[in-house]
Order: sequence, then structure tokens, then C-alpha cells
Amino acid sequence: GKVAVLMGGRSAERAISLKSGAAVLRALRELGVDAEDIDPDERVLERLDRGGFDRAFIILHGRGGEDGQIQGALETLGVPYTGSGVLGSAIGMDKVRTKLVWAGGGLPTAEFVVLRSEQDMDAAARLGFPLMIKPAHEGSSLGMARADSPQELTDAYRAAAAFDAEVIAEIWLSGAEYTCAILDGEALPMIRLETPNAFYDFEAKYQADTTSYLCPCGLTAEREAEYGALCLRAFEAVGATGWGRVDFMLDAAGQPRLLEVNTVPGMTDHSLVPMAAAARGMDFTELVARILRTSLK
Ligand code: DAL
Ligand code: MG
Repeated sequence: GKVAVLMGGRSAERAISLKSGAAVLRALRELGVDAEDIDPDERVLERLDRGGFDRAFIILHGRGGEDGQIQGALETLGVPYTGSGVLGSAIGMDKVRTKLVWAGGGLPTAEFVVLRSEQDMDAAARLGFPLMIKPAHEGSSLGMARADSPQELTDAYRAAAAFDAEVIAEIWLSGAEYTCAILDGEALPMIRLETPNAFYDFEAKYQADTTSYLCPCGLTAEREAEYGALCLRAFEAVGATGWGRVDFMLDAAGQPRLLEVNTVPGMTDHSLVPMAAAARGMDFTELVARILRTSLK
């Protein structure tokens, strides 16, 4: 059967999705799969319907593709697709609701407030500086900044608000950052991220050659298993399924604080899920084959 590789889209992460998509398309063709790329626009339903696809590989990042919209369209058309369904995608793309679900379920995440206007700056300042400011529905660290003072908070809020009507102010986490790739209900080897930048920002993610990716991540086997189980619970709590990535950091007391779920994580040659899969002895092509199989749920 034919596979539609949904890539590109209209989110701020379009360029990353096109890179992820090109790598996925290449791998599917290596596997002998008849795969065709589709860059969704307002006629995507018609194109999917006419294309005679019997499965879709979703490699869209950000709003419109990672938030339940395209998933709902595929449900309506009856075309099975990779990864999370409508609910898990919608919650996963929304950092406010993700954190509320985690907090409600007793899973650890940093204290935060939601900022919807410049009236909300005092509430954020009361959390104490430094703060991490981020748009609630973005990826790849777009629109994020550290704020050390009320003035920086206002500036950071304005920059984040250019991306999103909802902005999060979160207490600053000073410990190490880790990511946990998840495939078929299993945590893959964890990766520790190190950057000389103030945080793991867009530049550190995609451009810098000063970012270190440590895998093995340096935790004891016991700790890694404990955090892996936490990430799996965090993934399942938001209703995510199939494959994805959970990011977390340690706080000043060395305790893990969940940051977010990525239900369509990057699959570029610098991305983290392929790195974790490689540590498990799974090459990129095999990883893509495994992800494709998540569409058969
Ligand atoms: N949002 C980017 C693509 C990631 O999580 O890898
Ligand atoms: Mg993300």
C-alpha cells in the first residue's frame, strides 16, 4: 500500500519538519515502501482522499500537525496514522494543559503561571527570578527566553506573545537537562544535553557545534530506569501513544521536573530520537519502520 508522508505544514517549525520529512521519506523508500510526501494546505483532505493512501506517516512539527488537527482529519477519512491520536496530540502541544494534567496526577513539573496580557507580569514576578518564559504551544525553543528582572520579563513576554496568545512563566531549573525517547511503550536510552548557552535554545538544537549529547547519559542504571518510568507515565498521562519524547530537567535540589511531551519529535540527522535509537542498536531506517508500525493500532 501507499504511505502519505505528511511534512512541512504552516507552523513556525516548518523548516525542521521538512528536514525530518526528507530523512523519513528516504528511509521509507530504502525499505521499499511506496511513499509520497504531502505538504498540507487547505486542500489536504481532498489530496489525501484522492491519493489512495492506506497509511499516513505524520512528521509535521508544531501547530496544525502535532496538535490533533491533522490526526482528526485522518480519523474522519479512515486513514491510519503514526503516533498519538487527537487527544494526546492536542494536550501534548499545549504546555499549560500538559502541566495541569501532570500536576493533577502527582507528576513533578516546575511551578508556573500562565500569562495572557501584560497585566500578568506581577504574578510571574512573584514566582521569583530567574524565570523561563515560553509560548505555550511552540516547539524547538522558539520564542523562549530567560528573564532575570521585571524588565527582562516584560521583554521576554512580548517576544513569546508574538508566537502565542498564552505564555508560560516557569521557575528556572538550574540542573541538568535530559530527554527520553519513547517507542511502543518503552523508554529508549536517555540523553543528557549540555550547552554553553543560557539554555538548550534553537541555536543549541540545530546550529551550534558546541552542544554535547551524552548517551550514555551518566546516570546510574537504577536512576535512569526510575526516570525512564517517570517519563513513560508522563507520556501516558497526556494520552500520548506510539512514539515520542519526554523532556525533563533537574531542579536545584536534584529532583526531576518534567518539561514537556513531543508527540512528533524531530527526525533530522541531528535529532534526539534517532540518537537514542542508535544507542539501542537501531539504525535510522529500522527506527522509521518501527514508527510506521505504530499506525497499526
Ligand atoms: N519540536 C522539535 C521538532 C522536537 O521536539 O524535536
Ligand atoms: Mg517540543
